Amino acid sequence: MRLNAAGVEDSRLDAELLMAFAAGVTRERLIATTIAIDDGLRERYARLIDKRVARMPLAYIVGRREFYSIDLEVTPEVLIPRPETETLVTTALTFIKERKALRVIDLGTGSGAIALAIAAVERNTQIVATDVSAAAIAVAARNAIRVGVAARVEFRRADCWTVIDSGEAIGRFDLIVSNPPYVRDAEIASLAPEIRDYEPRAALAGGPDGLDLYRRIALDATIHLTPGGSLMVEVGEGQATEVATIFRAAGLGEIITVVNDLAGIPRVVVARRS
Ligand SMILES: C[S@@+](CC[C@H](N)C(=O)[O-])C[C@H]1O[C@@H](n2cnc3c(N)ncnc32)[C@H](O)[C@@H]1O
Repeated sequence: MRLNAAGVEDSRLDAELLMAFAAGVTRERLIATTIAIDDGLRERYARLIDKRVARMPLAYIVGRREFYSIDLEVTPEVLIPRPETETLVTTALTFIKERKALRVIDLGTGSGAIALAIAAVERNTQIVATDVSAAAIAVAARNAIRVGVAARVEFRRADCWTVIDSGEAIGRFDLIVSNPPYVRDAEIASLAPEIRDYEPRAALAGGPDGLDLYRRIALDATIHLTPGGSLMVEVGEGQATEVATIFRAAGLGEIITVVNDLAGIPRVVVARRS
């Protein structure tokens, strides 16, 4: 099979999903029923397989990905939302429920995954979602409409805390969430082709030690947090201790906790302001 030969993991599942996409049916329907394969379908399927053989991620080929039960458009301008990022959403939702956090900012929103998942559950929350990439903001704004939460999410183009969209400065929030780029620059070359060759570099590259953006976020976080507010970030494997150290050095050390993802990997670092 061509996908196997090209080194694609889960090649059978991908083949089924691509056939379903080409036929305009769900995978479940494809498996449960018999569909007529005509020349048009065969041709469409072959073109999709060509893309996957070239190691384009399935989500970019079909243009969508489900995240925290919301259906998101994804394009090569945005990171494909990862299952482990749902840990940050769950942690944020728990804080919002406990503290009645009303103002939330998502720094580096990409497809809008985190901001929109929160907005879809917490209907009293006002969310600001930022990204340095104008193309990502455009995708995220379409996703806000798609998910039905556009009235409660404001998009801002910003380089970390510095606005680029010439609006008001970024204000203060009860909760700051972020899944920043955290791959060490030197590691990018050894990533799987799906990531290395297709996902935006700005969504991956975190500087020489992968921690550049954590430092920048932490530096001004206290200015942007209301008293009792919280900063919570996703981290890469093995980065939790270093990120906690960065937070402490920035005066965010009062209470720091780490939350594991479903695989047991320390995934979210949470700092609280008194
Ligand atoms: C790892 S991706 C996360 C995307 C999305 N939040 C998610 O979890 O799927 C990081 C995002 O941060 C954005 N980004 C990178 N550097 C940034 C900066 N200096 N200021 C704001 N956003 C930045 C990238 O464009 C990218 O969309």
